[in-house]
Amino acid sequence: MIEKLGVIGTGGHAKVIVDIGIRKNPEQWFSFFTSNIAKARITHPFLAYSIYPDSPSEISQRMKGISFWHVAIGDPFIRQEKVDSIEKLGGLLHSMIHDQCTIATQTRIGSGTSVMAGVVLNPYVRIGKGCIINTASSIDHDCQIDDFVNIGPGVRVAGGVQIGKLTELGTGAIVIPNISIGASCIIGAGAVVTQNIPDYCVAVGVPAKVIRQNK
Ligand SMILES: CC(C)(COP(=O)(O)OP(=O)(O)OC[C@H]1O[C@@H](n2cnc3c(N)ncnc32)[C@H](O)[C@@H]1OP(=O)(O)O)[C@@H](O)C(=O)NCCC(=O)NCCS
Repeated sequence: MIEKLGVIGTGGHAKVIVDIGIRKNPEQWFSFFTSNIAKARITHPFLAYSIYPDSPSEISQRMKGISFWHVAIGDPFIRQEKVDSIEKLGGLLHSMIHDQCTIATQTRIGSGTSVMAGVVLNPYVRIGKGCIINTASSIDHDCQIDDFVNIGPGVRVAGGVQIGKLTELGTGAIVIPNISIGASCIIGAGAVVTQNIPDYCVAVGVPAKVIRQNK
């Protein structure tokens, strides 16, 4: 039996998720769910598959025909909302892990997280639920990455770093060892984080400095 994957989202992130799924199983079948059904029907790149509205009533109705769910939405707050709603309706979340990444045996990855091509996750890394670990990023030993974190493309996180829930690290950011970055932060593209960052901060630059609160 071919298992059907329900994908919430029809944008760029969904394209990457479909590629990961098809590489693992060329016969993988998808159903897509979106909040903008009219737009998706015109611009959707995967017209062979069905597209439905992502309302709880529609999802609930389709639940029986879908084996696993993945929320492919870049914004961590919206992703959290959609993951919560899938779980409330009894859906099973599926992690999407590219076949060409390196994951240490002692590393743990939460449900509904995506791990893109070229990622390296070293031993004793703990990654929460619903995270995005984007292309060619690396997370070294003993890091704790909380739920719904986005690790941008090419990010380098050194050993022993903690990153709080819903925080985003922009493309190419670097974090030196044993740093703690709070929850709901944004670290700018190319930043080098050399000091702890409190919750709800936007920090940019080399070394990274807080420029505003993340509301
Ligand atoms: C940090 C970031 C969120 C700031 O966005 P913003 O709040 O809209 O900020 P603005 O563009 O108004 O810039 C505010 C100031 O910060 C500076 N700045 C913004 N991003 C910066 C960065 N990454 N590095 C250095 N300085 C930066 C701007 O030049 C500006 O400086 P000024 O006030 O002296 O003119 C954004 O620039 C960024 O880097 N996002 C990461 C995106 C990314 O890589 N996502 C991954 C997708 S897969």
